[in-house]
Amino acid sequence: MKKITDIDIKGMNVLIRVDFNVPIVENKVADSYRIEKAKKTIQYCLDQGACVILMSHLGRPKNIVDKKYSLEPILFVLEEMFDNDIYFSDDCISSNAINFSNELIPGEIHLLENLRFYKQEKNNDVEFARSLSEHADIFINDAFGVCHREHASNSAILNFFDHNTSGFGFLINSEISYLKKILVKPPKPFTLILGGAKIDDKILMIENMLHNTDNILIGGKMAFSFLKAKGENVGGANVDKENITIAKNIIGKAKQKSVKIYLPKDFVCVEKDSNEEVWSIKKLVNLCKYDLGYDIGPETSLLFDQVIVSSKCILWNGPMGRFELHQFATGTDSVANSVGKIKGRNALTVVGGGDTASAVNSKDLKQSFNHISTGGGASLMILSGKKNKIIKEIL
Ligand code: 3PG
Repeated sequence: MKKITDIDIKGMNVLIRVDFNVPIVENKVADSYRIEKAKKTIQYCLDQGACVILMSHLGRPKNIVDKKYSLEPILFVLEEMFDNDIYFSDDCISSNAINFSNELIPGEIHLLENLRFYKQEKNNDVEFARSLSEHADIFINDAFGVCHREHASNSAILNFFDHNTSGFGFLINSEISYLKKILVKPPKPFTLILGGAKIDDKILMIENMLHNTDNILIGGKMAFSFLKAKGENVGGANVDKENITIAKNIIGKAKQKSVKIYLPKDFVCVEKDSNEEVWSIKKLVNLCKYDLGYDIGPETSLLFDQVIVSSKCILWNGPMGRFELHQFATGTDSVANSVGKIKGRNALTVVGGGDTASAVNSKDLKQSFNHISTGGGASLMILSGKKNKIIKEIL
């Protein structure tokens, strides 16, 4: 697939697949990061005198029209972002919407309603893709966040555009170039920071990256699987047997490759079934069976800081605790601040998207990073070395 800059789009109708899957609260966009990241491609098309048609999914509606998942609130963000005329169609493939696109004049933007109001989108349906293609002369994929999916709007649609009329945008280009740097030749020492609850969806990524990794710092709920695997105390944490086996396996492989794994030494704890506002800091050895560790503690933050500041490259996937609650956000904030210390020293610092991106963006800790991915699932697939049809096209 070509880069957008290698395609002649002057004066054309350009259909851009964006990922505007953003949180909507009370009919308003609560985090516009993904929309802002799509701006460069949209602006480029407008500057080339093109007409722009934007299509996206939002959330996971049950294959029917559900206004809770409407893209209409995004219209207001786009209106703030661009001086151009912007229109909205409440059906992405109606003949009204398609005719409207075909009558746009250069510089106008047409936003289509949620693709997932049709089940054909997720089914990668060719006829649905054909209807979408009728909006435009050129197709640009800039929805990095859905590259791990093969849906009609990013996969089947390619049947209707050829090598000269389809390509990928600036966002995908930038995401891929950062991930490639990390995969191929990360500046050393390279530290992988892992957190969040799930361990199983990160196994392939960890295994694929071990040969290039120097250190792994583990926080979040998944740290308990590793602690248990090492025979350590986990307090009241409920740890799945399967996850302990996975953790043991990773510990073994890391040892073979001389990769150092660092685990928490203390936690911000809450007593089981008690008020979450009441917390205390406890050392690992002092955890009792009622203690639930909801964040890493200060000793762990210090330990992680020492490893981070001696690194030249950081990839971070998964928060250190339940960062949505302020009392359990300190560990995640402190990791972001530690990473900020090395960014100024020419290190490469990347957030792999998903919850970590939300944590960093919600606190405005963005300045610590060279790149904050817009796609958690897509980054994970690429870092795991897996390739679907879309990823093969863009890599
Ligand atoms: C995301 O938020 O990860 C992407 O927009 C993909 O959404 P999905 O997981 O609902 O396919």
